[in-house]
Amino acid sequence: MVKKIWYTYDDVHRVLKELAGKIQASGVRYDAMIAIGGGGFIPARILRCFLNIPIYAVSTAYYANDFGYETNSEIKKIQWLDPMPENLAGKNVLVVDEVDDSRVTLEFVLNELQKENFAEIGVAVLHEKIKEKAGKLPEGIRYFSGITVEDWWINYPWDAEDIAAHNLLAAGHGEAQPE
Ligand code: G4P
Ligand code: MG
Repeated sequence: MVKKIWYTYDDVHRVLKELAGKIQASGVRYDAMIAIGGGGFIPARILRCFLNIPIYAVSTAYYANDFGYETNSEIKKIQWLDPMPENLAGKNVLVVDEVDDSRVTLEFVLNELQKENFAEIGVAVLHEKIKEKAGKLPEGIRYFSGITVEDWWINYPWDAEDIAAHNLLAAGHGEAQPE
């Protein structure tokens, strides 16, 4: 069985404040964030409290091919910055997502964004899972993560149907629903 962990909004907020500190300490001034939806939306909004830069958004999804979802499923753009806003030309952009898991989505998004005319692309994730990565970060991309975590299934507060039960589980009290 996959091990699971629950994080509260407060946990997420605290880690994002630390992440913002790391980004600021890098000395690179990012002009805008590009959030990868849906997981990157809430982290980007909270990061904005600390970074004070605007948020743009893209979304991707996995599509099944003839072999089904398990093997060779393909990533596609659901929503993109197309055309890329002119005011982002030559700017430093920070791509934001909630989790660096397989890196397949990150690799896809970063490769696509590298085709654009940015000065510098950084990537910031709330949680960096320590595991073998199927995807690779393209060269020349600065990487920031809030915290490193084990390769467990993370339950995010924004996915909770019952936030009180979620918070109890995060505190180590509640009963997880059987699969
Ligand atoms: P990566 O490049 O950022 O590592 O992402 P990867 O393609 O490996 O992730 C596939 C999907 O699985 C992503 O959702 C990601 O958010 C989700 N995911 C990976 N690990 C976890 C986890 O521990 N907990 C949760 N809740 N989700 C996880 P997506 O297709 O981008 O969907 P969306 O929810 O962002 O819309
Ligand atoms: Mg996502």
